[in-house]
Amino acid sequence: MSEREQPRRETVTLIDNATGRRVELPVRRGTHGPAVIEIGRLYKELGYFTYDPGFLSTASCRSAITFIDGERGVLLYRGYPIEQLAEHSTFLEVAYLLLYGELPDREQLRRFEDTITHHTMINESLKSFYQGFYHDAHPMAIMVGVVGSLSAFYHDSTDIRNPRHREVAAHRLIAKMPTIAAASYKHSVGEPIVYPRNDLSYVGNLLRMMFAVPTEDYVVHPVAERALDLIFILHADHEQNASTSTVRLAGSSAANPFACVASGIAALWGPAHGGANEAVLRMLAEIGNVRNIPKYIAKAKDKNDPFRLMGFGHRVYKNYDPRARIIRRMCHEVLRELGDDNDPLFELALRLEEEALRDEYFIERHLYPNVDFYSGLIYRAIGIPTNMFTVMFSIARTAGWVAQWMEMIADPEQRIGRPRQLYDGPPRRDYVPLEQREPARAAGGVHFQGEARVTD
Ligand code: ACO
Repeated sequence: MSEREQPRRETVTLIDNATGRRVELPVRRGTHGPAVIEIGRLYKELGYFTYDPGFLSTASCRSAITFIDGERGVLLYRGYPIEQLAEHSTFLEVAYLLLYGELPDREQLRRFEDTITHHTMINESLKSFYQGFYHDAHPMAIMVGVVGSLSAFYHDSTDIRNPRHREVAAHRLIAKMPTIAAASYKHSVGEPIVYPRNDLSYVGNLLRMMFAVPTEDYVVHPVAERALDLIFILHADHEQNASTSTVRLAGSSAANPFACVASGIAALWGPAHGGANEAVLRMLAEIGNVRNIPKYIAKAKDKNDPFRLMGFGHRVYKNYDPRARIIRRMCHEVLRELGDDNDPLFELALRLEEEALRDEYFIERHLYPNVDFYSGLIYRAIGIPTNMFTVMFSIARTAGWVAQWMEMIADPEQRIGRPRQLYDGPPRRDYVPLEQREPARAAGGVHFQGEARVTD
C-alpha cells in the first residue's frame, strides 16, 4: 500500500495557548462507547499531566469484559445483554463467561461447576482466624481480613505469570467466597461454622452454610435460591467501578491475587459503593412511614444536610439502571412467595421511588434507583441480616474481580498503575528546629484540611 493510500490515523490536536506548542494525540476506538484520546505522550511533549478527580472522563484500561451505556441503560457481559442472562443463565455460567469470554458448552459448564464445587472447602487453620475477631465485628471487616489471609496459603498457585496458576487462583476465590462469607456470619451470631456440601448449587450451598445449625438442617427454598442466583448475576461485574479498579491497581504491582481481592472488598464496603444496599434498608427503617417521605426527600435535596437517598443515583447510569428494573420485578415475586407482599418497607420503597422520580431535583440530575435500591428487600425476605448485604455483593463481584484481574495480567500493555497529582501543598521550605518554632495556634489536637480532626 502506498503512503497516500494509508488510512488516515484519527487524532486530536491539543494546543497550548500559552506557548503555541501543539501535540497530536492518537484516538482509539473500541467496539461500543466513546473513543479515547491516548494521552501517554502528553507529559513528554507538552509537560502537562491531566487532572480528572473521580475519573469522570478517564478510561483507566482497555477491557473486553463488560460494557455499560449509561445514557441508554445498557449493560452487556461479553456482549450479552444483562436482561437475557438474567432470564436464561445461572451465576456460575455467567462467571464462566466473564472469565473465559464465551458461553460454555454443556461439558465445559459441567467441568467448571465441578471444579468450583470441589474448591469450596477452606483450610482448617483458616477457621482459627475467626476467633481473633470480636463477636460484633462487621462481617465485611472479617471478609477483608480472612480473604486477604488466603494469600498466606496456596503457594502452589500464586506465580501470577503462569496462566494456569492465575486460573486456579480465580477458581479458588470464586469457590471459597461463600464458605468464608457464611463463616463470617456464623461467627457474628456465635454459631459453629457449617461445612459446604457438594450436592447443592452455588447459592444453595451458601444459604445452607449460613442457616443450618448442628441441631437442624436448612432446606433451601427454590424461590430464594433463584432470587439469590439472579442477584449474583446482576452483581457479577460492572466494568471499572471503584472496587474493580482497586483490584486492578493492587494487581498492577504483581501483588498476590487473594490480597488484591481483599483490597476490592475494602473498596466495596463504602456506602457510596456496595455498602449502599445495607444503607438503603437502614434508611427505609429510619423513614419508617410513607408520611415521612416528603421530609426525607427535602433532606436529600438540602445541600447543608449530608443525607442522600441511598440506592439512588449512579456515576454511569443517567437513565434507569437496567439491573434495578430486573430486580424490582424479582422483589415482587420473592415477597409474594417468601415474605409479606404487604411488607411495609417494600411499600415504602415503592412510594419513595415514585415520589423521588416526580421531583424536579431528581429529574434534573438524572437520579434513578440503582440495583441496590431493591436488592436489600429481597435479602431481607430470604432472611439474610442487614450487615451481610454487602458481603453477598462481594461474593458475586468476585467473579468480575478475578476476570478483570486475569485480563489485566495477560494484557501486553499492562504496567504498574501509578497516577500523578496536582501538588498544592506548601512550596519548598527549610526545617525549623523545635525550640525555634512558634507555638501552634490550634490547641487540643491536629487539624487536617476538611472535616477530619484527630486527637490522641
Ligand atoms: N440523593 C440526593 N442527591 C444526590 C444523590 C442522592 N442519592 N446522588 C447524587 N445526588 C446529587 C448530588 O448532590 C449532585 O448534586 P449537585 O449537582 O447539585 O451538586 C448531583 O446529584 C450529582 O451527584 P454526584 O455525587 O456528583 O455524582 P457521582 O457520580 O459522583 O456519585 C453516587 C454517584 C456515589 C452513586 C451518588 O449518586 C450517591 O451517593 N448515591 C447514593 C449511594 C448509592 O446508592 N450508591 C450505590 C451506587 S451503585 C453500586 O455501587 C452498586
